[in-house]
Amino acid sequence: MSLRKNKNCIIYGGGGFIGSHLAEELINNGYKVTIFDKLNFSKVNILHLGKKIKIIEGDFNNEIDIKNSLNGIDFVFHLVSSTLPGNSNANPIYDVESNLVSSLRLFDECVNQKIKKIIFVSSGGTVYGIPKSVPVNENHPRNPIVSYAVIKNTIEDYLYLFKHNTGLNYVSFRLSNPYGERQNPYSNQGAIAVFLNKVVRNEEIEIWGDGNVIRDFIYIKDAVDALVKSISLDTSKDIYNLGSGKGYSLNKILNEIKLISGKKPKVNYKEARKIDVPKNILDIKLISKDLKWQPKTNLREGLLKSYEYYKKINVEC
Ligand SMILES: NC(=O)c1ccc[n+]([C@@H]2O[C@H](COP(=O)([O-])OP(=O)(O)OC[C@H]3O[C@@H](n4cnc5c(N)ncnc54)[C@H](O)[C@@H]3O)[C@@H](O)[C@H]2O)c1
Repeated sequence: MSLRKNKNCIIYGGGGFIGSHLAEELINNGYKVTIFDKLNFSKVNILHLGKKIKIIEGDFNNEIDIKNSLNGIDFVFHLVSSTLPGNSNANPIYDVESNLVSSLRLFDECVNQKIKKIIFVSSGGTVYGIPKSVPVNENHPRNPIVSYAVIKNTIEDYLYLFKHNTGLNYVSFRLSNPYGERQNPYSNQGAIAVFLNKVVRNEEIEIWGDGNVIRDFIYIKDAVDALVKSISLDTSKDIYNLGSGKGYSLNKILNEIKLISGKKPKVNYKEARKIDVPKNILDIKLISKDLKWQPKTNLREGLLKSYEYYKKINVEC
């Protein structure tokens, strides 16, 4: 493992879906990786990384855990969220306390410990609210309809404030809908993971609405490629959309799944939810230019890789 100077990264929430892929990509690029996640968190996503990573178990809400974990770190990836778009409106106070306050403590400590850059994963699918038109660029007004997105926006605003007042360097990525291996198919986030897993298991898929909502889906390895690139590049902006720049309806996804699996998904269309925006596609011109980055995996390839993964885990369990 490389021990080069200025190569020490910590991923808060690193045991999760995105964090595990990010850790892999950082290691492939010669970085030294520490994963910070909850006490006794499931190691299933990172088992394959073995001794290539250091693990810290702690609580993102605990000031001392944060302070200690930052010792010797150069770059910080902030991937913790205690809420999802779908459940955050139920308790905004919890959202503020567990996500916003803890993030501010982290930023304070990053200033104290002279962290070189914070990379924050925000949400391109929710911070804009219902887009006036698509594709949505970074200057589109932010009119969130879920508390989750209010918090993501506020964290971005505080990052700006910290930068202005203390020089803390950061980049925020407004990530669209990542999918791929290791995404939890039993969570309320990640339609593709849920669909693929249900198809493998021959179970019925529930869709809120008529399946015509359009989303920007990005294969996870393309997304983490951009996150890693942002460490070494001095970007002209602090905030970037991160998506495929392409929109597909849920019905189109189901059709693609039918083609790759040879199975006809069983679907139960239910009443639409108020929190789902009808159409979201991100404009990715800015990130493509500044990071010299493009998503490389087309939808069918990404779905196929993911389908193989869900087939495998269903055989194993
Ligand atoms: N998955 C998506 O569709 C998506 C889209 C846009 C943005 N994001 C953002 O990306 C980030 C990572 O998402 P993910 O899909 O990998 O989620 P995930 O749930 O798979 O991973 C998050 C990790 O954070 C850890 N965590 C939560 N609370 C913690 C705490 N108090 N202390 C320590 N660890 C804690 C969890 O144990 C988990 O391993 C989140 O901030 C999320 O809001 C996700």
